[in-house]
Amino acid sequence: MTDGAVDVVEFLLTANGYTNDRTFDENDLRPAYRNVFWSVPTGGTDGDEEESQNRRRVTNGGIERPLATTTKTARAATGVQQPWEAVSELMFTDRDDFSGTLSLTDREIAEEWYVDRVDDDRLLENPVLAKRFEDETDVDYETAREQNRPIQADRVWIDGLLAEYFDDEDDEEMLDLVDVRAPEEIDLTLDDLVLTADQEAEINKIAKAIEHRDYLADIGLREIGKLLFVGPPGTGKTSTARALARDMDLPFVEVKLSMITSQYLGETAKNVDKTFEVAKRLSPCILFIDEFDFVAKTRRSDEHAALKRAVNTLLKSIDNVSLIQDDVLLIGATNHPDQLDAAAWRRFDEIVNFPKPDTRMRSDILQVITRTMDIEEFDPLAIAEITEGLTGSDLRMVMREAVLEALTENRTTLTQDDLEDAVEGFEERDNLKNMDMIEGDHDALVAGGDISGASGGDSAGGHSHDH
Ligand SMILES: Nc1ncnc2c1ncn2[C@@H]1O[C@H](COP(=O)(O)OP(=O)(O)O)[C@@H](O)[C@H]1O
Ligand SMILES: [Mg+2]
Repeated sequence: MTDGAVDVVEFLLTANGYTNDRTFDENDLRPAYRNVFWSVPTGGTDGDEEESQNRRRVTNGGIERPLATTTKTARAATGVQQPWEAVSELMFTDRDDFSGTLSLTDREIAEEWYVDRVDDDRLLENPVLAKRFEDETDVDYETAREQNRPIQADRVWIDGLLAEYFDDEDDEEMLDLVDVRAPEEIDLTLDDLVLTADQEAEINKIAKAIEHRDYLADIGLREIGKLLFVGPPGTGKTSTARALARDMDLPFVEVKLSMITSQYLGETAKNVDKTFEVAKRLSPCILFIDEFDFVAKTRRSDEHAALKRAVNTLLKSIDNVSLIQDDVLLIGATNHPDQLDAAAWRRFDEIVNFPKPDTRMRSDILQVITRTMDIEEFDPLAIAEITEGLTGSDLRMVMREAVLEALTENRTTLTQDDLEDAVEGFEERDNLKNMDMIEGDHDALVAGGDISGASGGDSAGGHSHDH
């Protein structure tokens, strides 16, 4: 018997349980299972089907019973390459050679066999089976269901929704404006990021607020759920927003605000509307609006009227979206807080400062980004001490240089010297870049250095800004 046997039997038991108990819905299936059975309608569904979909409050697809347990679906759901071979020796399994259908000849024996081989943690990952074994184990169904990722966080569900919303050709450009990611597609977690105490406190606060939305609604507290991330480029604003989405199992809707000036300007206001509509439909989700300073810039200058209209639509949409009412957490980000006007500041209820990392933080960041690397006599603190002023993103670049340099000598083990050399190389390049900037865009030299001069580049992370 192989490990795969438990996986395949679990799959067969689950499919069987789901098919026979109509009270289960897609949120009772492990994400890996429902991905296999989720079908996006291709249009032309008959009335009956539509009605049953409404009943399940599924808007853009569904899972039809019975769940077909074939070699193919079993493989896709469990990752076991030879699902039949994995269970063929068990006396309670059978395969129909013609259709490839795998089945359980004796469900009770299969259940006994299975529950003997798994622990409570594993049962908790499968709501259908958690319900079945509630009596003979310590797991309970409600906990399992709560823990299970909701379908709204699955790529298949997101794709179905997007297809429904942006199906005609005019909508092509919309896909340039928004980028929707399923949490499963984000590879960064908050553990991979080195945060200031302040940032951590804000993140924890918002995570709690998301968790207890119902309570906040009950007590009428609505002024929460709009964050502005402020700090120089490369300090982790985008990464933190994404990691939060992943850790909270929320879809991540990213708007590139500069795309607002796309050539189809006339459509932009409509697209902004649609973006918020999509976010509301995908909810609970995180809506991330990058380059927020762009708003202020266009308001001030004599831009095209259509652009102004779009920006006003954006500001209005922000006013009309809420974490408590719509389950949308809004995160704005800017490298240029100095360019934001009062109208923009006013729309956020928390400002989170992303300063350049101090020595301690740089050392921690180095440790995180080198976790999987081999470095002899590694002394991150020593490197941190010679990298004053560098951001997390700069440090990644330094490490990349060190790795590539070593590879040219056919080494995959680095030394502390390699790192020091890479720092030197980085600084040389940085100097060249700055000289270039003095000639060109002087603003870029000081842009976003710090906010209102109050947080002098340390990691204290004060919330200083003028409302
Ligand atoms: N505090 C940090 N801890 C770990 N990695 C960081 C940190 N800050 C930046 N990075 C890394 O630098 C890169 C760029 O960060 P990003 O989130 O895009 O910055 P920003 O959005 O502020 O410009 C990412 O790969 C990120 O992982
Ligand atoms: Mg960014």
